[in-house]
Amino acid sequence: MKILMDGSDVDAFRYLNDYSPLDGVTTNPSILAKGKGTAEEQVLQIADLLDKQQNLHVQVVSVKYEQMVEEAKRISKALSRNVFIKIPVSPDGLKAVRSLRGDGINTTVTGVYTTMQAVMAAKAGAAYVAPYINRIDLAHGNSEIVIKQIVQTFRTYGFSTKVLAASFKNTRQVISVMEAGVEEVTLSADLLKNLIHHKETDTSIEAFTEDFTSRFENSNEMFLK
Ligand code: G3P
Repeated sequence: MKILMDGSDVDAFRYLNDYSPLDGVTTNPSILAKGKGTAEEQVLQIADLLDKQQNLHVQVVSVKYEQMVEEAKRISKALSRNVFIKIPVSPDGLKAVRSLRGDGINTTVTGVYTTMQAVMAAKAGAAYVAPYINRIDLAHGNSEIVIKQIVQTFRTYGFSTKVLAASFKNTRQVISVMEAGVEEVTLSADLLKNLIHHKETDTSIEAFTEDFTSRFENSNEMFLK
């Protein structure tokens, strides 16, 4: 299973990648609009930090077929690495996915809210589909059912398209898509930090230190001499 960071903050990426190697980064126009520097600078800085095994997904801003294809090609050319071009699901988007596949450019169909959108994206030749877990729930859908249906349908019909689940607000949602068998998830830096945090763990660690130092003359390490 792969875990990516959904964001363009290089400091957050470095911090997280240091203690728990990440499998890549995803961005979208809204993320870049909130980041420091131009969109291009942010994408290039993140790309520089990634090794060959870490995937990068960058979204086009265009919404019309011809512009999407041209923009996707420009993004691919600007990055001296493999990149997955994120394309929102729409008639123009799926047409662009088909065309880019013919040019050997991998795509991630994003903004997926329904099982059928995922299936149509897979049929168009997307390398990944990105269902929006929390946004599905906010829109009165049931992300658990949608994700199970997508995973199961891809298996049943042998689609090679992978599921990169996105838009999470809590760890329960992450565990739920893992149970459904998704290959990859992309999480905000805050949620990534939260994955290993538990208040009771902090309390236990504090108690270990306190118990030890009060018994062994204020020493908080062993084998110093
Ligand atoms: O990658 C898609 C993601 O950025 C959407 O997440 O948190 O804005 O719903 P969110």
